[in-house]
Amino acid sequence: MPALTAPARLRRPSLLDAVLSEANRALQVLSGVAPATRPNPARGGVEDTALTPAQKRHAAGLMRVNHVGEICAQALYRGQAAVCPDGATRNLLLEAAAEEVDHLAWLDERLKELGSRPSLLNPVWYVGSLAMGVVAARAGEPYNLGFMAETEKQVGEHLDSHLSKLPDEDVRSRRIVAQMALDEASHRERAEAHGGVPLPTPIRIAMRGMSKVMTTTAYWL
Ligand SMILES: [Fe+2]
Ligand SMILES: [Fe+2]
Repeated sequence: MPALTAPARLRRPSLLDAVLSEANRALQVLSGVAPATRPNPARGGVEDTALTPAQKRHAAGLMRVNHVGEICAQALYRGQAAVCPDGATRNLLLEAAAEEVDHLAWLDERLKELGSRPSLLNPVWYVGSLAMGVVAARAGEPYNLGFMAETEKQVGEHLDSHLSKLPDEDVRSRRIVAQMALDEASHRERAEAHGGVPLPTPIRIAMRGMSKVMTTTAYWL
């Protein structure tokens, strides 16, 4: 067998490589095997309190909504990073995407503890968000980062509202949501500090509309 030539050994990743890599990542995220890199904040001496069946159902619905939000954020940032020409912005997006995987893993664990599961529509949300991320990145660096900042702002608002809706007794879910809210605020600050600008009002309204559809369906499905 002939030895590989230098150009063959050092071959640059092709478009097909990138597509296959993203598809592999999507499968890992959607199947729940992508591991967290930080410990679950619900662990560490927090006893799982007994919840009534109604409280469990409600908490699971809210945590499923949060899980879909993380699926969307993950796919958005992967899509934005995939076509982003600026290395620093790409790294920022991929760092945030990695932290969203932590959130996904923590939420997945909590959903299991609550006797529930992630949304059946996650593949649809993932593909749609990935495509939206690619479109956002085409709008240029300031809007690409502004899209990230607006996403984090809206996710943060949802998390704050869920902290007031989750049963007081559900300490584990509340600790996860509280840590996520801190992380999302940090993601938003980083996007703004790197030059993200406010998005035009119609875009922000459209994002809120999509978010409303997502949160309403994810609570049940
Ligand atoms: Fe997140
Ligand atoms: Fe985030």
